[in-house]
Amino acid sequence: MLQMIDDRETGPGAVVINRADYLAPAYWIDTVDLCFDLDPAKTRVLNKMTLRRNPDVPAQPLKLDGEELNLARVLVNGQGTSFKMEGSQLVLCDLPDAFELEIFTTTCPSKNTKLMGLYVSNDSFFTQCEAEGFRRITYFLDRPDVMASYSVTLRADKAKYPVLLSNGNLVAHGALEDGANGARHFAKWVDPHKKPSYLFALVAGQLVSREQRITSRAGKEHLLQVYVRPGDLDKTEHAMTSLMHSVAWDEARFGLKLDLERFMIVATSDFNMGAMENKGLNIFNTKYVLANQATATDVDFSNIESVVGHEYFHNWTGNRITCRDWFQLSLKEGLTVFRDQEFSQDLCAEASARAVKRIEDVRVLRTAQFPEDAGPMAHPVRPDSYIEISNFYTVTIYEKGAEVVRMMQTLVASINDPLGRDGFARGMTLYFERHDGQAVTCDDFAQAIADANPMSDLARLLPQFKRWYSQAGTPRVEALGAYDATARTYTLTLSQTCWPTPGQPVKEPFVIPVGLGLLGVDGQDLPLQLEGETSALAGTRTLVLTQDSESFTFVNLDAEPVPSILRGFTAPVVLEFDYTDAQLLHLLAHDSDPFNRWEAGQRLAVNSAVNAIKSIAVSADGTCANVLNDAYLGAMREVLRHPTLDSAFKDLVLTLPSETYLAEQLDVVDPQHIHAVREAMRQQLATALKADWEAAYAANHDTGAYTPDPESSGRRALAGMALTHLCLAARTSGDAVWPGKTLQRFKDAGNMTDRFNALAALVSSSHPLADQALALFHAMFKDEALVIDKWFSLQTSAPDRGGNILPAVKQLMKHADFSLKNPNRARSVISTFCQGNPAGFHRLDAAGYHFWCERVIELDALNPQVAARLARALDRWSKLAEPYRSNARQAITRVAARTDLSKDTLEVVTRALGQ
Ligand code: BES
Ligand code: ZN
Repeated sequence: MLQMIDDRETGPGAVVINRADYLAPAYWIDTVDLCFDLDPAKTRVLNKMTLRRNPDVPAQPLKLDGEELNLARVLVNGQGTSFKMEGSQLVLCDLPDAFELEIFTTTCPSKNTKLMGLYVSNDSFFTQCEAEGFRRITYFLDRPDVMASYSVTLRADKAKYPVLLSNGNLVAHGALEDGANGARHFAKWVDPHKKPSYLFALVAGQLVSREQRITSRAGKEHLLQVYVRPGDLDKTEHAMTSLMHSVAWDEARFGLKLDLERFMIVATSDFNMGAMENKGLNIFNTKYVLANQATATDVDFSNIESVVGHEYFHNWTGNRITCRDWFQLSLKEGLTVFRDQEFSQDLCAEASARAVKRIEDVRVLRTAQFPEDAGPMAHPVRPDSYIEISNFYTVTIYEKGAEVVRMMQTLVASINDPLGRDGFARGMTLYFERHDGQAVTCDDFAQAIADANPMSDLARLLPQFKRWYSQAGTPRVEALGAYDATARTYTLTLSQTCWPTPGQPVKEPFVIPVGLGLLGVDGQDLPLQLEGETSALAGTRTLVLTQDSESFTFVNLDAEPVPSILRGFTAPVVLEFDYTDAQLLHLLAHDSDPFNRWEAGQRLAVNSAVNAIKSIAVSADGTCANVLNDAYLGAMREVLRHPTLDSAFKDLVLTLPSETYLAEQLDVVDPQHIHAVREAMRQQLATALKADWEAAYAANHDTGAYTPDPESSGRRALAGMALTHLCLAARTSGDAVWPGKTLQRFKDAGNMTDRFNALAALVSSSHPLADQALALFHAMFKDEALVIDKWFSLQTSAPDRGGNILPAVKQLMKHADFSLKNPNRARSVISTFCQGNPAGFHRLDAAGYHFWCERVIELDALNPQVAARLARALDRWSKLAEPYRSNARQAITRVAARTDLSKDTLEVVTRALGQ
């Protein structure tokens, strides 16, 4: 009997899933034997499973998840059986305790524009199953706590799909009988490790691979492969090198070895996310694989290194030990982000490069996660409920989750292990001893780290520490310093508060580790001795704040010190201390902690910007008067001219806080005003420091033969920044020399970083030469999709001048190279504009919001995940000044009023409206 079932989700019957409702599965699936007959229009999937009842839960029907599947046959122990459909679930009753279940379905990969489940990209097949995509391939218990052994047979046309890949080891392959359409072949793969369905993957197509054999310390041989389309092999060396570094690092730092004979990475240009850690068969967005010096920038090279590392590290943190349910997502994602951040730092040769990486990571946290934590989508690192799990792959789960893990490392530190690395590694070892092969919770992880360090602050404070998992919102730590000259003491009082977030009106105090140093008048670190202690320790120490308010008194201080608080950004909090400009300038000049040294410069810039936004008017042409004082400009000159600071650090110090970050510092946000003030600051830095930028360019522009190492990348970044400012200075001076030099540099550049920086300098100063350079750039790279993405996003993120960007965006959408169906391309134009260009987007005439509304609706019909991410561009609407605020709300309301929205987008806009 052939039965066709169409179970597309209908209407907004959005169901809320609650963490508290977790129940163990009623059945276990021990083995899965899948056979695919691959065809773009109709792929047949035969799924033979062995199941047994879970004796720990009451007997009940088996309910299998499925989505957009055509069901043809269901057999239990080889016999036809009765079944029913409940919504999209396939329900089987009266089953024996153990049995074989055979399900035959078909799907249409070529029409799969959601890019979840099995889909076609450039005539090849790919899968994406996390979080709930396996149900789009076959009926299954599609939840991470059901771990099974998989064997997979792929059958396909041999000429069109010469490469057939799945998880594990290739155990057989060969020819099949000739079909109607030519010769077919097959490959059979067996995965030696049990896994949850979200880690299943298959790939089939015309691909070529770079191969590398490695031998582990224990003498085991492994084959590493990076698969790409023919023609892209010359862009795979860096990904392979990054993979080899990852394998070596995980073994060296955590004793975690590669547990597979073969480890494969495959690149696809149609991918919703960055990359996916399927067991032994990682699938990557091309953006995070392909690089050579002609097409990729230093930032691309560094992203590839960390994404390759990230997915590889999941092999243990995520795959060997996985999540019990999706509320535990940060168990694998927060931990793995922490691991990839540590990996990137450990690959740095110099301490200063480690600090640069830390500053970059904190910058992401503060510009993306802090706003999330203060907005309508705020949720704990371990959320309590969701409608669509795809919406919870957030900066909170990832970046704040990583900070929570980092705090655990800090809180297991001891005298002999001041950073906590050894203690944390011991905790990881215990975690694997206890839970290898299991699906567990965030509690299990925290318990293992604490239990391995019984004498630590973490062990002592564990229940309270775990509030970081349960309470949303960014804590504010207010610090007050009081110097007593007679007693020669300095008392630092730290108080914490955390504002309400949706569903959490009241917060209990967090455990907050606060790295602290005290600087003397000469800028040196003073010895730190707390009242009651018998000796002083030099340098930084960690205070642990656990109460609403606590005071710490330091003794033996001859003069009032300048406190350097929250060194290294030891906790994801907002630190408030009423620094004077003089104190900040002191920290900027002397702090031994590079993070706080950078932070001092940022605070100075924020103070100037916020004061200007409150007091300086913008003239009709969108410009405003001088914002930066001479002290700040002098300090920036000193940094730029500094003989020993490295270029990457200078680049970070000279980079003004973003418009998004500035917006978060204000109660009411006028995006146009912020933009005008920040542009005035940039212009002032450009003009006042012109000679210094020239010197910086001269000292940094030649970086020799290209390698993407931190030192030479830093020099290229600073040279690029110098060019941008020199082109900006030319705007007011009318100078033609530097724009001309910049165009020449653009033409002569030996690598993409220098070429793109020169192009960006012309574009961001709106110089007339920019158009010529853009046209040339397009012609040079018309066949390189990833470079064309850069070409689009450079134009859509350019500084808005008189409302020129939105019309440009609309024009770019008519370009022959534009496509809404390709997520990278759609994001490079639409998301870059709506989420990366506040002044272009937030227009007085609301045209940006109209545009957003139309694109969200249009994209939602094609790809709900991409649409839902774009939908978050207006998360912070309630902070906007009028008329932006009302106009933005109207636009969100218009989207929410649609009756055909995916639950992805529906959840985002509903939360934005506070319903
Ligand atoms: N497991 C995720 C991929 C994923 C994300 C699947 C969302 C399903 C939904 C993967 O490990 C990941 O985290 N990828 C990141 C990049 C990473 C370096 C932070 C991504 O894709 O953005
Ligand atoms: Zn991940």
